[in-house]
Amino acid sequence: MKIACTADELQLFTNIAKVAADTNTPCYIVGGFVRDKLLQRPTKDIDFVCLGSGIEMAHSVAHSLPGKIKVNFFKNFGTAQFRYHDFDIEFVGARKESYNRDSRKPIVEEGTLDDDQKRRDFTINAFAISLNKDDYGELIDPFNGLDDLANKIIRTPLDPDITFSDDPLRMMRCIRFATQLNFSIHPEAFEAIGRNKERIKIISYERITDELNKIILTSKPSVGFDLLYRSGLLEVFFPQLVALAGAEYIDGKGHKDNFYHTLQVLDNAANRSNDLWLRWAALLHDIGKPATKRFEKGHGWTFHGHDAVGERMTYKIFRQFKLPQNEKMKYVAKLVALHLRPISLTKEDITDSAMRRLLFDAGEDLEDLMILCESDITSKNKQKVTRYLDNFEAVRQRLKEVEEADRIRNWQPPIDGAEIMELFGLQPSREVGTLKTAIREAILDNIIPNTREAAYEFMLNTAAKMGLHPVK
Ligand code: CTP
Repeated sequence: MKIACTADELQLFTNIAKVAADTNTPCYIVGGFVRDKLLQRPTKDIDFVCLGSGIEMAHSVAHSLPGKIKVNFFKNFGTAQFRYHDFDIEFVGARKESYNRDSRKPIVEEGTLDDDQKRRDFTINAFAISLNKDDYGELIDPFNGLDDLANKIIRTPLDPDITFSDDPLRMMRCIRFATQLNFSIHPEAFEAIGRNKERIKIISYERITDELNKIILTSKPSVGFDLLYRSGLLEVFFPQLVALAGAEYIDGKGHKDNFYHTLQVLDNAANRSNDLWLRWAALLHDIGKPATKRFEKGHGWTFHGHDAVGERMTYKIFRQFKLPQNEKMKYVAKLVALHLRPISLTKEDITDSAMRRLLFDAGEDLEDLMILCESDITSKNKQKVTRYLDNFEAVRQRLKEVEEADRIRNWQPPIDGAEIMELFGLQPSREVGTLKTAIREAILDNIIPNTREAAYEFMLNTAAKMGLHPVK
């Protein structure tokens, strides 16, 4: 079995082979690099296992390469890493135990190559390629990973209950690889996820989120979420999403299954954009529905206010998943909050001021909001889909016209809080906010033109009604 390597890779491997021979430390290329090469996927992470100290080996190799290389090492785990050209390189000594980064338990027990391969997560991740004199370049595949690659199967080398219990993050990885590579999960492994799902609780949310983001970034993320849901794992770490599942019926009237609807929206968004955060917005757009669901006689099922509830839940979910607490979070929350607005603009007799208001509220994220709304169309009826898309196209056109006339996007009202405070001799207070909002609303509602003079006059009149007068 040959793998195609670049000149850079070959030079690195020749170097390592020489150090391995000189120090009498057998060394192997292992894990994801071999898998990705066999699948002809691009890869820049290369892991090596040696029969001896991984940390010493990394230092010797780094020393043998041109240039000055800084080696980072973790004594507890017996691992050492460095960057070389654009490769991320890691060395570890072969061991008997699993490698669990969440565990504080140091991993000390040395093992053979076979021990090391057994303790890896999947057969397709347990390949090794020898860098040693006797069998240089030979693929060592004790669990028939090649067959699983050919048949597109994710399977654990050992009993899956042992593999998953050793490191429960592997349940996420299992589903992530299945989604990313378009492989199926061996039934025994899939059932084992169901049995071991509670163990995911010992894994930090940072690591869970890392895997979840990789699923979200695949070309068809619904595959992964469906597997997460059906295995029972999703319920354990993301119950808010599972609460969307199922359809309730009263008086013979049901609503759609909002979980599978959400997955469809996520796939639609993935078809339109590679942006992780826009995809998160798709995932969370209806998250407020279970909490707002009502059955109203004469109306059927309603979810009033699910947009605002969803916005608040987005902040909580970002905290829970240790996602960034920054403008990315605000962006996702904003799209969730606004996701119904373009639909309301598809009705007849919509005023320019309604358009202007959306331009103002969405600002620079308007285009992404429109993508989310288009993704939210999941009707099976092709004619309906075409009609809805045409309606959105008309809204886009109107928004463009209003924007060209008013330049309201990224617009700041012509008078700011500082000026109001100075003019009326006010400290930061509710009155300042009231005046600011009044000016903004008057412009957005077209009561006054969008000019400084008009805003100034309007402010003086409004302030006078509030009993405020300029101090100079
Ligand atoms: N590994 C494992 N259990 C884990 C994580 C990793 O057994 N929970 C092993 C696998 O053999 C894996 C190798 O360590 O191939 C390297 O792990 P990592 O770099 O995290 O993943 P890759 O398999 O390289 O894949 P990706 O880069 O897509 O995460």
